[in-house]
Amino acid sequence: MELEPLDLLQADAETVLLYVEGLMTGEANWVATLANLSSVLHEALGRVNWTGFYITSDTGQELIVGPFQGKVACTRIAVGQGVVGTAARTRSSLIVPDVHKFPGHIACDSASRSEIVVPITAGARLFGVIDVDSPEEDRFQSAECSLLEQVASRVAARWPASFHQT
Ligand code: SME
Repeated sequence: MELEPLDLLQADAETVLLYVEGLMTGEANWVATLANLSSVLHEALGRVNWTGFYITSDTGQELIVGPFQGKVACTRIAVGQGVVGTAARTRSSLIVPDVHKFPGHIACDSASRSEIVVPITAGARLFGVIDVDSPEEDRFQSAECSLLEQVASRVAARWPASFHQT
């Protein structure tokens, strides 16, 4: 689906979610969809330096980097490791106000100061996570968490059974 250009930074959460729905409608290629979603979230949040997806491997033991905006990132993160792996293990959203104070934080971009990771789940299944970094300390609050959780639930609802990562 082709969408009209929109100033996502100025858009409210409801508009961003409509945009997200639009991007997930009528496009069967999941890499393309996640790539565009990473761009939407990167722009809509603002003051961030990395926004993207880590996707659960078929073994369920690690998260593999998916479409993202930002600097080159760690390709594979074991469940339980770093902020990404911790949120994956606990299956709950994790806000880290100061990454320097998070034991085991994996630094992909030395500019990152705070981070949020939101799991993409459906029942017992963990499809992956949404990960966002900011160069500002304490950048992520409940508003950002709520937006990302709503995006995650929409992504989970449409996750294609055929999409695998090895
Ligand atoms: N900081 C993450 C690693 C991924 S990057 O931020 C893109 C972590 O500690 O798991």
